[in-house]
Amino acid sequence: MYPPRSIWLSLLALYSFWTSLAHALSGQEPLKSAQTDGYKLGEKIPVSCLNRSIETGEHITDLASGQLQYIPFPVCNETGRPLELFFGVEKEINCTIDFISDSFFHLLEFYIHNDAPLTCRIPSRPLPPSPIEDEYKVSDTESQEGALGTQSTLYTPMVIALSGTLQLSHIHVGNYLNLLVHAMPKSVSPGTIDAAAAYSVSSHSRNTKITIGDTLPLQFSVRWYPSTTLPPGWTGYGGHVYKSTFLYCILSAGASAAICIAYFRGVELPRRLKRYARDKVPGGGRFGGGGGYGLPTVSNGGGGGGYGFNGYSYGVGKRD
Ligand SMILES: *[C@@H]1O[C@H](CO)[C@@H](O)[C@H](O)[C@H]1NC(C)=O
Ligand SMILES: *[C@@H]1O[C@H](CO)[C@@H](O)[C@H](O)[C@H]1NC(C)=O
Ligand SMILES: *[C@@H]1O[C@H](CO)[C@@H](O)[C@H](O)[C@H]1NC(C)=O
Repeated sequence: MYPPRSIWLSLLALYSFWTSLAHALSGQEPLKSAQTDGYKLGEKIPVSCLNRSIETGEHITDLASGQLQYIPFPVCNETGRPLELFFGVEKEINCTIDFISDSFFHLLEFYIHNDAPLTCRIPSRPLPPSPIEDEYKVSDTESQEGALGTQSTLYTPMVIALSGTLQLSHIHVGNYLNLLVHAMPKSVSPGTIDAAAAYSVSSHSRNTKITIGDTLPLQFSVRWYPSTTLPPGWTGYGGHVYKSTFLYCILSAGASAAICIAYFRGVELPRRLKRYARDKVPGGGRFGGGGGYGLPTVSNGGGGGGYGFNGYSYGVGKRD
């Protein structure tokens, strides 16, 4: 009577466990496919930027979707493709925009004059393949998922802060830029971008003069950080000199100490021991009894560890 009942109970427990497991798994599935895996090291990351009106510099909202219109970054002559970053890869990237069109020139004026930022964005993780986007409008997906749109969390904004000066006929663009990207800590979310920004450096001394039809050689110095904090960078002006001299002092102090010890142990101490041993032999019988524990160690005086102690014990013995 009893054994069958317990079998039934355990079967029931197994069944309920199984169904709940299956339920949990099926519940997980949509979530999994919506969130893609993170970037692999070196994976390409496309850069797209807000399309702006050349009359006012205002962003362009797509009327059909009501979202901001993002378009690929201008094509770089070096690669023949719009600017791309590579996950986790620190390097210098040259991106020469071959021909500054009339409209792009006007936009550059807005950027330099801070009427509008050059607002770009990069996918925080590789974008899910098109099937999901197909549920929305196919034609819109490439360029128009806006920062205000439902899919905005897929992207990380990256403002490119171009600096330079405006002249009547031309502009000077600080074309050397630092580009910093923070990835989320691996423990939190591997292969995911958290923040990014770019800015001109030394724009007063290192810039390029641009008129319509010119080429704009942008040089990005790309650096990646594996967390959201920046490492401390400031070591003070001339920090290198201070640091190296400090290091030099420590090293030379250590080296001279090592030489002293080596000299004492290898040359001076054996010499003294020998001398003491010689002194001791004639009078050995005299205070052999007194220095009872000192005596045997001398006879096998080669044992390195005991030298200092032996030396002292003999010193005492001799004073006797
Ligand atoms: C950006 O917007 C302008 C004005 O609406 C439009 O003419 C142009 O085609 C857009 N650029 C791209 C690459 O779609
Ligand atoms: C850009 O590429 C085109 C075609 O590859 C070439 O004709 C042109 O000279 C290049 N411009 C610069 C500035 O390198
Ligand atoms: C970028 O361009 C500069 C100037 O033309 C050149 O000196 C440098 O080697 C280039 N760097 C790379 C990574 O191509």
